[in-house]
Amino acid sequence: MWVEKYRPKTLAEVVGNEQAKSEFVKWLSDWKKRKVKELGVFFIGPQGVGKTSLAYAAANDFGYQFIELNASDVRTESAILRKLAPISGTISLDSFSSSEFIRKDIMVFLDEVDGIYGHSDRGGLGAIMELARQRNILLILSANFPDAVKHKELLKNFKRIYLHPLSPRQILIILKRICETEHLNISADILQKISMKSRGDARFAINTLHMVAMGHPLPEDLEVNLTTPLAKTVNDLIQCKDHMEAINKISYSLSRIDEIYRALSEAIANSNLDTSKRAEIFDLISKIDVFMRKIAKKGQWKILREVIYLLASTSLLIPGDRVRYVEKIPDYVFSKVIYKSRSEKFNEIINSLKRRLHCSRRKIVQYMLPYLAFLAKNNRRISGLSKDDINVMLSVLT
Ligand SMILES: Nc1ncnc2c1ncn2[C@@H]1O[C@H](COP(=O)(O)OP(=O)(O)OP(=O)(O)O)[C@@H](O)[C@H]1O
Ligand SMILES: [Mg+2]
Repeated sequence: MWVEKYRPKTLAEVVGNEQAKSEFVKWLSDWKKRKVKELGVFFIGPQGVGKTSLAYAAANDFGYQFIELNASDVRTESAILRKLAPISGTISLDSFSSSEFIRKDIMVFLDEVDGIYGHSDRGGLGAIMELARQRNILLILSANFPDAVKHKELLKNFKRIYLHPLSPRQILIILKRICETEHLNISADILQKISMKSRGDARFAINTLHMVAMGHPLPEDLEVNLTTPLAKTVNDLIQCKDHMEAINKISYSLSRIDEIYRALSEAIANSNLDTSKRAEIFDLISKIDVFMRKIAKKGQWKILREVIYLLASTSLLIPGDRVRYVEKIPDYVFSKVIYKSRSEKFNEIINSLKRRLHCSRRKIVQYMLPYLAFLAKNNRRISGLSKDDINVMLSVLT
């Protein structure tokens, strides 16, 4: 997803919210010198303005290992410990102060803190406070709407940093950067529209751009590259006929290896290949997965060549005429947009059928649509319905 791909990696890449940025940097430097009185930092601000991104970028710049936890995963003390345990074997709250855990300089980012309450969450807030009191790991909290009463303790003891919606101009900067990297040719007008409509939410803006780039919905005057780079790589790869060709495709692609093999497995899962063929392909993909984890965890980069070789072999196993990768619509907001436009078209068709067949909408939907869809699926012509109409019906029904 582009929102992840384009998450700022350094503070310099975080657009806007200058005050929050400098407050945070100052606080972090003081924390390093043990000069702060607060237990950690509490980011407060609406969705998609860069709370997670700011923490992540600062962690990179300041050399912290970044660990992101969702509050819903860590409602209880034991859940928090369970989540953090893999970092340093089994730990207890006490051992935070003495284990090597501390020396690793870890930034724990706890998202959606507004979802945690006191008693009902069996100690979640208490555990956070206790963890923070040890002052051994850097704890960053984040929330959209903290509750003045329920989160009183956190608000009192953490350095509050407020982030604000980005301005259209700032959103535009982010979108233009992405367009450049993706070699997208999208009109200034559309970019303007997206940045105005996003109301300061960069995630919304990037997802909308992604959707437009994928052709959904496609205004007539828009010039876009319909396939995303990942979809192009994967679909080209599936078509390759020999090893060398496939290896070249992978090596020269702009997409990352993990994106490619995940996309491949998605394409296989959605295909109609028979079970034994799928099993054969998934077997190779799972080997790739194991290797990739070794690279990610242990930095064994020398096995990357094997991974590329294996990925090439996998793609050769896939019958190019029967599998196709379609990149998913990135966000529920946009599936709604698409669903809406689809359902408008759908209603139009139903209304025209209503008039022609002299019966109610319910009868058409309940009794006739499945039958019409069956005919359409079997390539029978249905008088009065265009191919497009039929596609709309099928997409709603299936
Ligand atoms: N200030 C920014 N500069 C550059 N990119 C940004 C900025 N803010 C957000 N983005 C982009 O939007 C995406 C979502 O932002 P992020 O996850 O940081 O938002 P958030 O404030 O943590 O939202 P939420 O409250 O929903 O957790 C990021 O992955 C990044 O691509
Ligand atoms: Mg976030």
